[in-house]
Amino acid sequence: MLKNLKIDSLIYPYFVTAGEGQKQAIDLFPGVYRFSSDTLLEEISQIRELGLRRILFFAVTDKKDATGSHADRPNNFFVRAIKEIKDTFPDLSVITDVCLCAYTSHGHCGILKAQSAKGKTQSVLLDQGLTLERLSQIALSHARAGADWVAPSAMAKGQVHAIRAALDKNGYSRTKILGYSAKFASSFYGPFRNACASAPRFANRSSYQLDYQGSRKALQEIADDIKEGADTVMVKPALAYLDVIREAKEKFAFPLAAYNVSAEYVLVKLGAREGLFSERKMVSEIISSIKRAGADYIITYHAKDIAKWLKEN
Ligand code: PBG
Repeated sequence: MLKNLKIDSLIYPYFVTAGEGQKQAIDLFPGVYRFSSDTLLEEISQIRELGLRRILFFAVTDKKDATGSHADRPNNFFVRAIKEIKDTFPDLSVITDVCLCAYTSHGHCGILKAQSAKGKTQSVLLDQGLTLERLSQIALSHARAGADWVAPSAMAKGQVHAIRAALDKNGYSRTKILGYSAKFASSFYGPFRNACASAPRFANRSSYQLDYQGSRKALQEIADDIKEGADTVMVKPALAYLDVIREAKEKFAFPLAAYNVSAEYVLVKLGAREGLFSERKMVSEIISSIKRAGADYIITYHAKDIAKWLKEN
């Protein structure tokens, strides 16, 4: 099973929270925790033993306001954790999520235009200028902490270009960008939003995430991100979007990641727990399908289990 899978093609996501000694279980998200930096360091030394080298970090905080001001506050808990991890394990490839949804009181991924902020509209509008400014500052704070890659996930127009410019201007031209290029407005993000308490408090994300009924716009977004300077592009979620992964790979022949997102993972975990199927076989089939479709990298919460299984083989 998964014989041809290279462990280096897997990216393992972690949720980072403030405090000490934290390893908080998350409701209906089995095997996934919110770690504080100290427990995270122990955890990471374990997964390094298993051969995992690429990690994606998300911040979880209850310090929320309208502009997500905590996100790039100097030396905030997230930036400190990244720095500690990179100082301890310089060989890790550290990728940080760059978004505002975990930090905003309204739960949206950017700064809202005034009329949207009142919460009366069905679909909200992001203020592009302010959002790009904030995302660039956040990306810069992660780069300063030692992130190898920043991964803007807000789906704000021009985010890759703005972040690339800010990084270059400040001497971080070696920090790479993983663009969440084709990110669909999806029901598959439920457990993730529980983990970060980042569900929108009103309206939904359909004004800035993609409609799943078509793929043309997704391919356009990928083309835009490549033009704006992304080093790797992404399709997210993965399973219901294998056609988009395939099309993107064929059309662009560019490094491509697919995000096997939280509900895709939880469905497998819960089904296996109920004895509906073998978890190992199911994960093997799913990961193989994402690879077969054309993904070079797979971001997956199954990564640690897969790494263990590969060791046992
Ligand atoms: C948004 C973001 C989301 C995920 C990662 N970053 C989704 C969202 O809330 O719109 C979801 C990942 C998952 O479900 O595993 N910044």
